[in-house]
Amino acid sequence: MARVLTKDIEKFEGKEIELAGWVETRRDHGKLIFIDFRDRSGLAQVVFADKALHEKADSLRSEFVIDLKGEVRKRPKGMENSKIPSGHYEISAKNLEILAKAETPPFDVATGGLDVSEEVRMKYRYLDLRRPRLQKNIRHRSRLINFIRSFLDNEEFTEIETPILGKSTPEGARDYLVPARLHPGKFYALPQAPQQYKQLMMVAGFERYYQIARCFRDEDTRGDRQPEFTQLDLEMSFVKREDVMELNEKLLIAIIQKLYPEKKIQEIPFPRLTYEEVVKKYGNDRPDLRKDKNDPNLLAFCWIIDFPFFERVEPESKRAHPELVEGSSGSGSTGSPQTSKEVWTFTHNPFSAPKDEFMADLLAQKNIPKIIASQYDIALNGWEIGGGSIRNHKPNALKAVLSIMGMDDKKINENFGHMLQAFSFGTPPHGGIAWGLDRLVMILENEPNIREVIALPKTGDGRDLMTEAPSEVSKGQLKELHLKIGEKD
Ligand code: AMO
Repeated sequence: MARVLTKDIEKFEGKEIELAGWVETRRDHGKLIFIDFRDRSGLAQVVFADKALHEKADSLRSEFVIDLKGEVRKRPKGMENSKIPSGHYEISAKNLEILAKAETPPFDVATGGLDVSEEVRMKYRYLDLRRPRLQKNIRHRSRLINFIRSFLDNEEFTEIETPILGKSTPEGARDYLVPARLHPGKFYALPQAPQQYKQLMMVAGFERYYQIARCFRDEDTRGDRQPEFTQLDLEMSFVKREDVMELNEKLLIAIIQKLYPEKKIQEIPFPRLTYEEVVKKYGNDRPDLRKDKNDPNLLAFCWIIDFPFFERVEPESKRAHPELVEGSSGSGSTGSPQTSKEVWTFTHNPFSAPKDEFMADLLAQKNIPKIIASQYDIALNGWEIGGGSIRNHKPNALKAVLSIMGMDDKKINENFGHMLQAFSFGTPPHGGIAWGLDRLVMILENEPNIREVIALPKTGDGRDLMTEAPSEVSKGQLKELHLKIGEKD
């Protein structure tokens, strides 16, 4: 007998079927024992009326794994449950096999779970994930990624995997470092984003790249941030800003229309606002433009454009990139006399090109605070869900950016020599974007936190409570890596 899923039982009315799954709850009504039975497709009610099965059925507890055979029949009038798809039917059990017993779970997996402490949920995440809400979130996430893949495949994109062990370069956040056993004293860095690799794929002539990419940033975790998270990362050759924005807008609209038809996009085409406008009007650069903020199905996408390329950083400021600031006196010129302590950093991405009309200033390293980047961000209901830009594909323009940031030729070569060299071999103009995929799913699933849409997230302080990572390692491992643990501060 082939296994039947609970969602299909109505097709088998009057027939005997086999089910396999979990006991969600057991209710004892004397001669009759009822269980709510769960498999990956949902719930069904099972009735044990057969005396021969009574003792075994009585031993069932929540989360036991069972296999049972029984007859599908209509529930008696008035006993239907319209809340579940199989609610007009039940299975009258004829045979029961217990495949695995279960300890009493630390929490009820049938509830939403938002009232259970995060520590407990994360420690037993594999149980937490049995909740219908999390099952739905993770399945919807998978459905979304599949949709993106087939959309981009149709648009002639190539999915390319890029390295996880890479080079540490200043890109905005703090790197996670990995000691290189074979190269004492040297480290790999985990990618904060595949930015450089995807640009190298443009040099390599792929023209249209994408990746569902894991990114790693050692920064403080918040509700919308994880130390490792997922981007939809893409890059295109021979395009202008508008081309990238249009393609992404088309993809977002298709996602909503096909996968979330109950949702309404407030305005199509998505409004485009300049950075100056939004900051003046809303006080931030990811405005929530919803006309009705109580409507969970309203989506107000908007593009933010025309960001300043550079911002000033004081050397002692924590925001400055320490690797750039140390010993640097700043080499940019603002057109006005510059103090020896003045240092600039990029607001978004060191690889961005300025808007065409500012290229001359960039190359001359003049009027720095006025240079506008080709950057575009996309916001949704008050969250930044993505950002990208057209890049500097000519080596001298990228060099000018790095020099404005206070890097001398030696530092530029150490950090970015590989990019400058690649760009010297005939690089097409190109640009791209990355979406924060976790954030997008969080908003579409009306969740308050990205941890609700990531199967195995980290806690607020970056731990995995299930496996207890990070953990200490053996002296032998450290020795092999040529590492010594210093005094803790
Ligand atoms: P950016 O750094 O803006 O751009 O990242 C793109 C998007 O990724 C999401 N995001 C995060 N999501 C969860 N946890 C985090 N810690 C986190 N950090 C960022 C945000 C953000 O908009 N390489 C460039 C993109 C490009 O220019 O093509 C980049 O990474 O939603």
